Amino acid sequence: MPDTGAMPINPANVPSTRFFAGIGLSATMRVLDVGCGNGDLTRMAAALVGPGGEIVGVDSSATALAAARAAPSDTRSASVRYELADFRGPLPALGRFDAIIGRRVLMYLPDAAATLTRLSDFAKPGTVLAFQEHARAALPAGAGDLPVHRRCYGMAWNTVAAEQGDVTLGYRLVDLVRASGFAVEQAYSEGIVIQPWQESFLPTLIRMMLPRMIERGVVRSHEVDPESLAEQLDDERRTAGGTILWDMAFLVSGRFGSRG
Ligand SMILES: C[S@@+](CC[C@H](N)C(=O)[O-])C[C@H]1O[C@@H](n2cnc3c(N)ncnc32)[C@H](O)[C@@H]1O
Repeated sequence: MPDTGAMPINPANVPSTRFFAGIGLSATMRVLDVGCGNGDLTRMAAALVGPGGEIVGVDSSATALAAARAAPSDTRSASVRYELADFRGPLPALGRFDAIIGRRVLMYLPDAAATLTRLSDFAKPGTVLAFQEHARAALPAGAGDLPVHRRCYGMAWNTVAAEQGDVTLGYRLVDLVRASGFAVEQAYSEGIVIQPWQESFLPTLIRMMLPRMIERGVVRSHEVDPESLAEQLDDERRTAGGTILWDMAFLVSGRFGSRG
């Protein structure tokens, strides 16, 4: 595939647009983005809230926050600021929020229940909580056999597990949200698909995760050549044809103040 320089769309972010647009974000809200990374979801929330609101993105990675801060701001969006903090340790005084959101972050924490309980300290009656998380499943699946895709899927999830992440988090999200004092308003799952006309995000994902995979002993450096793996993935999906169901997203929102 020719290198156009542009990063292919991460299909795991596709459900976010519909989900976060429907959780009740509105003008002047203060929103906390937990584990904001490079700020992709933070900027989406800022656009949904609009001028007059404030979004605070918190992450434990200084590198990710540097990328987030480097992104251009939009005058039609809420103001955005980023704070460096680790949700396993002391948190800065951030005040109360009208909404607390996050994407693919609870699954990376060793104790998501404890994190959600701590997050309820930032809530007030009526605060919206909304998370998109994922879980390991019997995937990927498609029209044909997909051993190379299956190998990549295993490598990715084995890395999350080796980092003490919770590979079942998506299945348990509803229970965790309820137990931390939020009444569930939406709870559904969406398949993350790779369509035949799209450039696959998987070679990018493997390249991004490879250092972590090697560090955690999931693979040895000589076992994975990203370039040939990209070619094998491409060949495999051309042969299989059609849509590949790659992963599952679990989307749950709730409101603070009553249990449901
Ligand atoms: C898969 S990334 C998701 C980033 C962002 N939410 C998104 O969807 O684009 C997970 C993020 O969680 C952050 N993270 C993991 N553990 C954390 C912790 N204990 N405290 C704060 N952030 C954490 C990581 O630094 C990383 O940026």
